[in-house]
Amino acid sequence: MTKKMYQKRKERSMINNNAQGGQKTGINWYPGHMEKAKRKIKENLKFVDIVLELIDARVPYSSINNDIFNLINNKSHILIMTKSDLADYDKVQEWVKYYRKKGIIVILVDLKNKKNIKEIYNEIDKITITINKERSVKGLKSRRIRLLVVGIPNVGKSTLINSLVNKKATITGNKPGVTKQINWIRVNDKIELLDTPGILPPRLTDKEVALNLAATTAIKEEVLPLEEVAIHIIKKLQSNYPTALRKRYNIKDDTDIIVILNSIGKLIGAIKNGEVDYDRVYKTIIKDLRDGYLGKIVFDIMDCNE
Ligand code: G4P
Repeated sequence: MTKKMYQKRKERSMINNNAQGGQKTGINWYPGHMEKAKRKIKENLKFVDIVLELIDARVPYSSINNDIFNLINNKSHILIMTKSDLADYDKVQEWVKYYRKKGIIVILVDLKNKKNIKEIYNEIDKITITINKERSVKGLKSRRIRLLVVGIPNVGKSTLINSLVNKKATITGNKPGVTKQINWIRVNDKIELLDTPGILPPRLTDKEVALNLAATTAIKEEVLPLEEVAIHIIKKLQSNYPTALRKRYNIKDDTDIIVILNSIGKLIGAIKNGEVDYDRVYKTIIKDLRDGYLGKIVFDIMDCNE
């Protein structure tokens, strides 16, 4: 594609964006999916003591679900930031501080390499002691604490459940008086875990949030055009991690997007009929970011007024 053709395509896609109302995506996840997911989590919440909400450390604002605070109401809540191995440590710390300031328990973990899982147990233990003290005041016996893992797709819910649940874990079956099938996995003497995680739909109506999530895997590739996601990544890197493109692709001129795309195309040999195969270039950029080849990142920038 020539620069002129590319510009035309870009203008077309900008017109489409404007037709969707500027910064809104027009992606139709709401309200059906959201309501259904909320209802499912609400049903299960009755039976749990602690909600473990997973968010992605690379997008600590885009991957959080504000509704969960109202949903969980009086339950204990632990915010677990996953994929710390792929995240920019200093920037993540700012978000950790931000959420802790709001009174939330926050734990940063790398589930892939099983780092900091112990910290989760420690926090659960502390809450368990408080809950069982309260039970004892009411004349009730201590019991295993019940957990529910929630979060948007791909954030690491299954990975966390797998690492909490060792081979000896057993499924404990229905609770008496519960008509709906609810299976609890006995993690250890103190902890039971609901066998299925709660899936929170991503917030896709905000364009920046949707692009951040698409860049870091939380939403499927077909939901947003590859081109938009790849260009979003380039722009984010240019403004926040200016050496990332040079380090990975040895790009000298990183001012013009088309120059960057063409350079990457040539570098990776993505040429079809003498033209750069842009779809391959977009896919490469997205995959490189997700796999950490473009460095450790945080794409949600903290507002100075926060
Ligand atoms: P979900 O249940 O919330 O949908 O997420 P899931 O556990 O399936 O995790 C989605 C992907 O994220 C998996 O990769 C998983 O390995 C990866 N993942 C989870 N936590 C971490 C983490 O802390 N660090 C890193 N680097 N990756 C993490 P996948 O490519 O789908 O599968 P695989 O690589 O495990 O084969």
